[in-house]
Amino acid sequence: MAARRNRVKSRHAALHHAPDAALSLILVKSGGAAAVPDWQKHFAALLPEFAVLGWDDKAVDPASVTHVVVWAPEPGRLARFPNLRLILSSGAGVDHLADPTLPPHVPVVRLGAPEAVARMAEHVTLAVLYHHRLWHRFADQQRRQVWDSLDNPEAHERRVGIMGLGQLGAASATAVARFGFQVAGWSRTPKALPGVQCFAGPRGLKPFLARTDILVCLLPSTPETDGMLNASTFAMLPRGATLVNAARGALVNEPDLLEALDSGQVSAAALDVFVTEPLPPESRFWTHPMVTLTPHVASFPGRAARARYCAQVIRAHQQGQPLPNLFDRERGY
Ligand code: NDP
Ligand code: OXD
Repeated sequence: MAARRNRVKSRHAALHHAPDAALSLILVKSGGAAAVPDWQKHFAALLPEFAVLGWDDKAVDPASVTHVVVWAPEPGRLARFPNLRLILSSGAGVDHLADPTLPPHVPVVRLGAPEAVARMAEHVTLAVLYHHRLWHRFADQQRRQVWDSLDNPEAHERRVGIMGLGQLGAASATAVARFGFQVAGWSRTPKALPGVQCFAGPRGLKPFLARTDILVCLLPSTPETDGMLNASTFAMLPRGATLVNAARGALVNEPDLLEALDSGQVSAAALDVFVTEPLPPESRFWTHPMVTLTPHVASFPGRAARARYCAQVIRAHQQGQPLPNLFDRERGY
């Protein structure tokens, strides 16, 4: 055990001196400085020829950086690495990279680890079942010491609608459909998914919302989608619908959602993401009795899983193979 620890330690020491070699250097900005040793450990096992350093390491020569694994880099920083070959987003969303200085010739790959997809399907299933079986109302009753079994419909009578049928939305729709719910999905381009009624484009939005009791949002944040969950789209839902937002806070007009919750147009919400994160202490979402709140963890795979995915992508890129989950700058996601 001690020998193994020493081997790992000396490899880290070697990595710390490697940037001078200016060959293959992965710079990591994900999880802060405390996470760097963990990234180094995982990448050392997967890509032993790479040096791995933290974003704020003063020893880094920008010219030596060939790959980055990043979450929310400061604007302009990625343009300062002249030999950058690949940008790996440490999340599935890439709105945190929206920056006009993003180097246009460098591919950007979104996180697509199978663990991330599975975790999102778990999160969505949990949120749908929680509201379907009225646990949010029982939690409220518990706070008020009320004992009341409430009527609730069977799964086959409940209509779930998933906005966004990409890697996360499609897996979540399939997972939820297994419980017997009536599941529909909505996407930009038409889709066909077994057991899921598919709607597409602006014309499909109204009929999709009109048949949805539990609305799950898994859209990317783009100029087209930001703010699209607002008073007018809430009004298209059946009265008393539930919202599950596991995508981005920017998709929701938050004052409109609070108003819809107060009026009962939206009866409950499970919110994992917010316009401002961490959610400010004064936000009414913290205390609203019909809001269940999680701190942006819907699909948060461990570092080992993310490193495995990044290493596979880096190897594919080295071998000139097609890259998965490429950010399409024109589409914005
Ligand atoms: P994908 O790019 O794989 O899928 C996006 C889906 O949204 C596609 O079906 C796409 O349609 C659809 N879409 C995009 N724009 C529009 C539009 N204007 N109108 C209708 N549909 C549209 O993304 P992922 O599934 O990987 O991730 C979705 C989002 O989830 C991420 O962008 C991120 O913001 C969020 N996320 C949140 C996490 C969390 O922990 N809370 C974790 C991971 C991701 P089409 O299929 O036609 O292209
Ligand atoms: C995200 C992620 O994009 O955590 O939010 O993957």
